[in-house]
Amino acid sequence: QRIRLIGVPTDVGASMLGAVMGPEALRVAGLTAALARQGLVVLDDGNLAGPPNQQLDPVQGYRHLPEVVTWNQVVHQAVGQALAQGEIPMMLGGDHCLAIGSIGAVAQHCHRAGKHLRVLWFDAHADFNTPEITPSGNLHGMPVAVLCGHGPEALVDIASVDGRPALTPDALRMIGIRSVDPGERAFVHSQQIEVYDMRYVDEHGMRAVMQQALMGVEPGTHHLHLSFDVDGLDPDIAPGVGTPVRGGPTYREAQLCMEMIADTGALGSLDVVELNPARDVQNRTAELVVDLVESLFGKSTLMRPSVSNV
Ligand code: ARG
Ligand code: MN
Ligand code: MN
Ligand code: MN
Repeated sequence: QRIRLIGVPTDVGASMLGAVMGPEALRVAGLTAALARQGLVVLDDGNLAGPPNQQLDPVQGYRHLPEVVTWNQVVHQAVGQALAQGEIPMMLGGDHCLAIGSIGAVAQHCHRAGKHLRVLWFDAHADFNTPEITPSGNLHGMPVAVLCGHGPEALVDIASVDGRPALTPDALRMIGIRSVDPGERAFVHSQQIEVYDMRYVDEHGMRAVMQQALMGVEPGTHHLHLSFDVDGLDPDIAPGVGTPVRGGPTYREAQLCMEMIADTGALGSLDVVELNPARDVQNRTAELVVDLVESLFGKSTLMRPSVSNV
């Protein structure tokens, strides 16, 4: 298996600067060696290039829309190319707006390959805002809405497949959610998004959550995409993010989440986003992410000859 690291140093989707340093922090934390330990061939040609964050005010509800469009065109192109070459593309973000281009390209690949797409959105936030309801104008709070066809035409177009939105709500599962804005909350419900929020994780446990989120996913027929927002983790263990929210999954809950994804054998692509080294403590958050990514690609304490989740 070949994995293609794609550095996407963007923070144009956020208010806070610093996510541009995410790709380097992950490399410094030993990402390449960790993936190689799991038997992957790691390809890394460095980072994509795009416009900087000029800290402008929102225009018609969006901050830095032209810059976000440019970044996502570049991301879409790179991810499409990696998938066409049979590689697993792994985005090293960068803020979460980059998921528009990456998941847009993944959806197109699945459409052509005749595969079912399942997207796991691991995040403290639902990222389902639109310009009418966003409290901030920040596009990293909107990628899921855009992928489902709601948002500015320029971005919805990038994410479209044959003129249809990249995602329908039935392809999507949200995990770890605990911060949803008032208008966003109504919109999430009206679109029937499947959300395993933190109360659900508390009441049912991560094991049941992942069994449900991964239900029906088979390696031959499905392509699984993980969009891993680092702020989904509890800030006590992952302080290096721009928009921390207390009360997220613990270290063990996050490990189990990754291990159960690995068990499916269907992971085909992923984003690691919102890591902000300027907020981190001695690169601890990046090191934690590398540790979790190793589990995502099959690291386990003991051999598990007959994995059964039932
Ligand atoms: N809901 C808030 C907003 O729209 C925060 C979004 C944070 N998103 C993220 N990818 N960290 O501004
Ligand atoms: Mn988030
Ligand atoms: Mn595939
Ligand atoms: Mn997010």
